[in-house]
Amino acid sequence: MMSWQDLYHARTTTIQEALRHIRPGERIALSHAAATPQLATEAFVACRDLFHDNEVYHMLCLGPGRYMDACMQGHIRHITNFVASNSREAVEAGRADFFPAYFHHVPDLIRSGALGIDVAIIQVSLPNSEGYCSYGVSCDYTKPAAETARLVIAEVNRQMPFVLGDNLIHVSRLDHIVPADYPLYTIAPPTIGAVERAIGEHCARLIADGDTLQLGIGAIPDAVLMSLGDKKHLGIHTEMFSDGVLELVKRGVIDGRRKTLLPGKMVATFLMGTQELYKFVHNNPDVCLYPVDYVNAPTVIAQNERLVSINSALEVDLMGQVASESIGERQFSGVGGQVDYVRGAYLSQGGKSIIALPSTARGGQTSRISPRLTEGAAVTTSRCDVDYIVTEYGTAHLRGKTLRERARALIAIAHPAFRDQLQQHFDAKYPRP
Ligand code: COA
Repeated sequence: MMSWQDLYHARTTTIQEALRHIRPGERIALSHAAATPQLATEAFVACRDLFHDNEVYHMLCLGPGRYMDACMQGHIRHITNFVASNSREAVEAGRADFFPAYFHHVPDLIRSGALGIDVAIIQVSLPNSEGYCSYGVSCDYTKPAAETARLVIAEVNRQMPFVLGDNLIHVSRLDHIVPADYPLYTIAPPTIGAVERAIGEHCARLIADGDTLQLGIGAIPDAVLMSLGDKKHLGIHTEMFSDGVLELVKRGVIDGRRKTLLPGKMVATFLMGTQELYKFVHNNPDVCLYPVDYVNAPTVIAQNERLVSINSALEVDLMGQVASESIGERQFSGVGGQVDYVRGAYLSQGGKSIIALPSTARGGQTSRISPRLTEGAAVTTSRCDVDYIVTEYGTAHLRGKTLRERARALIAIAHPAFRDQLQQHFDAKYPRP
């Protein structure tokens, strides 16, 4: 039997050669976010004549996303369940397609064949002494895709951190190995203004010592983390985390000591941030990545007692329906793990889910709390699932409340410039007996 080292050498090739093994019409899954395989996505454009009616499933496309340009028509078409800033234009122009799916369902869509994945192109770390590579910062659907696909092409990037958990693949599973040495895509820490700071402080009041947190990405999650400096023994069980947690880990605020599932471990399914984050997670025994059908399954989330989830939204109506992924009919992002965590937090003993958003959009011209959602908007978190809504003006606790009570609570945290208007709607809809 060949040693893994011999296999590795025998299967080493260039990206251009590896891509020749993809057949016309096949669907390709790419590892996503910071683990986007950069050699392949560039080669798609340069070698586009190799591709005929292929589709690429790529959840969060970071980087230039040039494979979605008009010149790729007839060659490669992007499909995703999360529209990003670099795919929005392609989706709107009809060159790419969006499909709605809870993030934790994606592995099952892959394994059952519903998503029809034939090929996986992934970015992984260098192998360890036993010949196992780490999926690095993206385990999510990447591991299920690599385990299911007919063909696996791996960019083995010496700069990909070796991240632990159920996050390894053996060299023998890689059909074509492309050595790589490039920095992972990074995202800069967000700018936090007065509105986000106020939201962060309101959220922090809902978080107690010993709670386990799920936080998304962006200014609001980071503002929440900034307000947690005086807490103790917080834990992390989250879809993804970024640099915002590093300071709290250094200060001992996050130690996971009271977690009821995987105590001491920071659990996630992907990671995205700066090079400092990637350095922190490399070979770090406290950080564990698992596939998304485990990390984001509401029943698994709920095994964490006192799970507090914090996510954001674009709009909330007075019944508490939350639109987080579309502005009217325009698909802006995707459900991601929002509902997974809202429901997981609901099932968690002592759990809470928070939807935190600024009270206005478009430079203060539009209230994000409105009598009804913009026509055509998809409801992300339903009025039966919603729990806390937070704006810079305070907190509305909606769980178990009547529609009348919800409307009243939401008007109280709307921007003052819109409260009269909202009150008029309330008075018409809920006349005094
Ligand atoms: N009407 C019109 N425009 C609106 C609007 C509204 N009600 N709400 C927001 N907008 C505009 C904003 O003004 C902004 O425009 P700009 O880019 O020109 O400034 C744009 O839409 C984006 O809004 P913003 O609130 O800045 O978005 P964000 O980057 O903070 O992301 C979500 C917020 C809700 C889109 C994002 O959190 C998301 O996709 N959530 C769903 C998935 C999820 O929760 N995942 C978490 C699990 S990890």
